[in-house]
Amino acid sequence: MKLMEPGYIGNLKVRNRVVMAPMISNLANPDGTTNEAHMRYLEERAAGGVGIVITEYTYIDNLNSRGSRNQLGLYDTKMVPKLRRLTEGIHRHGAAVFVQLVHAGGKASPEINGVESMAPSSMRYFNHVAREMTVEDITNVQESFVKAAKLAQASNFDGIELHGAHGYLIHQFLSPATNKRTDKYGGSFENRLRFVKEIIEAVKSEVSVVLGIRLSLFEYDEDGYGPEYGLAIANSLTGVDYVHFSAGRNAPPGSSAPFYYEHIHVFRKLPGRPNKTSIIVGSVTTVDDVEEVLKVADFVSLGRALLADPYFVRKAVTAPELIRPCIRCNQACRDLSYGEVRCTVNPDTGFENRKTPKFPLSGEIVIVGGGIKGMEAALTARSYGLKVTLYEKEESVGGQLLEVVDPWKKTEFSRLISFYQNSLRRRGVEVITNTKYRGQGIYCLPDEVYPDLPQSDQLSIDSNIYKYHDLALKEAERREVIMSLRSLAFMDRSRAESFKRIAESKGVKFVGNYNFKFSLVLRDQYDIMRAMTSGRRVVTEFVESNVQDFS
Ligand SMILES: Cc1cc2nc3c(=O)[nH]c(=O)nc-3n(C[C@H](O)[C@H](O)[C@H](O)COP(=O)(O)O)c2cc1C
Ligand code: SF4
Repeated sequence: MKLMEPGYIGNLKVRNRVVMAPMISNLANPDGTTNEAHMRYLEERAAGGVGIVITEYTYIDNLNSRGSRNQLGLYDTKMVPKLRRLTEGIHRHGAAVFVQLVHAGGKASPEINGVESMAPSSMRYFNHVAREMTVEDITNVQESFVKAAKLAQASNFDGIELHGAHGYLIHQFLSPATNKRTDKYGGSFENRLRFVKEIIEAVKSEVSVVLGIRLSLFEYDEDGYGPEYGLAIANSLTGVDYVHFSAGRNAPPGSSAPFYYEHIHVFRKLPGRPNKTSIIVGSVTTVDDVEEVLKVADFVSLGRALLADPYFVRKAVTAPELIRPCIRCNQACRDLSYGEVRCTVNPDTGFENRKTPKFPLSGEIVIVGGGIKGMEAALTARSYGLKVTLYEKEESVGGQLLEVVDPWKKTEFSRLISFYQNSLRRRGVEVITNTKYRGQGIYCLPDEVYPDLPQSDQLSIDSNIYKYHDLALKEAERREVIMSLRSLAFMDRSRAESFKRIAESKGVKFVGNYNFKFSLVLRDQYDIMRAMTSGRRVVTEFVESNVQDFS
């Protein structure tokens, strides 16, 4: 297995080829300092076996560089002691740790920073217009990068990654679409690279740790650059030890492509081998994906797959069938309403410092219902030491996930069902299917069952419930289907736009007029995470209130 082979970045020996991709967790404090929850979240991924943990994008000054509210920051010596604890915690598990440094530029939030944002050229970003940076601004930002790099070294980070991707400041300089300058920082390929080259040179002269850069190999935007341009940037940056390829500037799907896009979506567009150590990210969710990417790249980085299962690497070696799979739903992890990092298929993500109750119990328990809720309940009961029998009336476990009709979802969700089947088997849960059990036990029937579709000639849907989204695609083959635009409002932007494109290609019409009388109006999507949490809760409550029967 290539993934377990040690490798080098610069002089740094890394225990294997898997890197945790930088991901904003919003677990840090409002002043940018780290805390227990944040440290535990990162440590857990190190304990799970990755070679390198890269922190989330970390802002470099307390002025206008910040992009998210509870983002990690690195701009003051007062931050160093706690960051030393963070790096120590990760080193303890044998992983290296890099910090990703960012200035969000035009994408910085004036609301969060309290000042207007600035960019290479004045233009609209989200709901605001960023002002054009002066040469003095450029020098100040470069100095902030150097200061942050020195603080990173003092905090015992093994490496620094400059965030030159995803449309943030460095990327804004690199992209012809966002850099319209006519001075020495714009106008030609060389000039657009000058800003970052000067940062690289200045950082290199001050610190000795590994220095790398994250780049978007290509942009999805209509006026965006392609993979040849992205590779040319990487090959021109001679001062860095590695390049970390991601994708996207502004237009969806960006880097975290949902299930409407193929696996290893960034890697597939790589036009040639870069002239330096490379890391590639992008919809790598299986061990096969990892090995495929490692045929060309030196390292592979996993983002969402490690939110779904922090122990991906360890399990890849011992039991790949027990990896809890990221289903690329872009739901909890991209849903800002949660604020802090969450994962739809892993209720523990973002709660790594929470103590799970331990019940060293004996006895037997019956769980009724083989949907997500029942399967999670069965695994929870096993973890308490109980002998578990799970009854399912259908031929197979999987519950409502088996009813999914959208082929993209079907593929991803079937991996989740397989994970449960394998886990139940491995943990010794007796699964009895095709049986309507009526005896005593914990009944884990679905908390929500949605009504069938109305049988009118025209179907009009105003609902955020995914079941109806799927059915809209199917029904469009035989009757007129209309959907409200707000049906998609709570979806991640890339998934919403992909779904809309697919639906429109099948003839579904979208309306933004809410005086329209829809034939199906229903809100409150019950999702996989709620089913899992519910399964865990019913078992825990049952055991707690009947603990004398199992001791
Ligand atoms: C919750 C979340 C937060 C992210 N935050 C960052 C970030 O701070 N810096 C960054 O470069 N990329 C960020 N990304 C992009 C990931 O690093 C990664 O490139 C992307 O998710 C694709 O990899 P994956 O398919 O393995 O998830 C984020 C992605 C997610 C899902
Ligand atoms: S929420 Fe969905 S896409 Fe995000 S990490 Fe979890 S399973 Fe993957």
